[in-house]
Amino acid sequence: MHLTLGSRRFVEINIAIRRFYSKSATAERWRTLIRTHTEVSTDHMTPEIQLHLITQKCSLWHSRGEDVPFPDPFWAFYWPGGQVLSRFVLDNARLFSDKRVLDIGSGCGASAIASKMSGAHTVCANDIDRVAIEAIKMNCELNGVFVDTSADDVIGRQLQDWDIVFLGDMFYDSYFANLFSCWLPRLSQGGIDVLVGDPGRLPLSDHPLKKNLVSLYQCSLPENSLKENSGMSTGTVWQYRA
Ligand SMILES: C[S@@+](CC[C@H](N)C(=O)[O-])C[C@H]1O[C@@H](n2cnc3c(N)ncnc32)[C@H](O)[C@@H]1O
Repeated sequence: MHLTLGSRRFVEINIAIRRFYSKSATAERWRTLIRTHTEVSTDHMTPEIQLHLITQKCSLWHSRGEDVPFPDPFWAFYWPGGQVLSRFVLDNARLFSDKRVLDIGSGCGASAIASKMSGAHTVCANDIDRVAIEAIKMNCELNGVFVDTSADDVIGRQLQDWDIVFLGDMFYDSYFANLFSCWLPRLSQGGIDVLVGDPGRLPLSDHPLKKNLVSLYQCSLPENSLKENSGMSTGTVWQYRA
């Protein structure tokens, strides 16, 4: 489309309105928008978990960025790193039974939900996006489980009350990879087990941190995930070892 000055101005105004709206919208308003713009999907690696996702059947899938009423809706997609991690959790429930689990960058909340389904004692789904927090609560309701939620930015902070920390598909940016390489040794010293789910993202593949990661589980990613993630074909669950 050829943008005239008028239409560009329209886009700018639209984005400004969305930003303002995203700050002032209430939880109930987010829930209505999530219900309207997602479908409940089990078309992923953990079909035992139902999730509100933006799929190809949803009109937003085909929309232009400025028409999306959510700021960066990462939570509306179930990222392959999160999928492989949740699969591992559901298939190895005994490792999570009675544990205290913190899922950082929880997105749709699937890995947190998987750990609760596997018998974890306490689970917190953490994400700095407050729309994600509403989506996580709705996804918990769909699956009949309860997890705590937190929108605090805890990355880099000292953590005490957790046995296991999940990082599902959090190596999509080298900024995070660098942060984690300083932080994971400290978590490990504090007795926290860190599990990473990753589909082979570049910031992790090339990173020195990789020498401290031990593969616990590997599997092929499903067809739809290959299409959505530039052909990345294998998911791995890594455990950090100091
Ligand atoms: C790539 S998505 C992964 C979501 C989910 N773990 C999965 O695998 O489907 C990354 C998520 O991290 C969240 N995020 C980004 N920075 C964060 C931070 N500092 N603390 C917590 N969450 C953060 C984003 O809002 C987003 O939901």
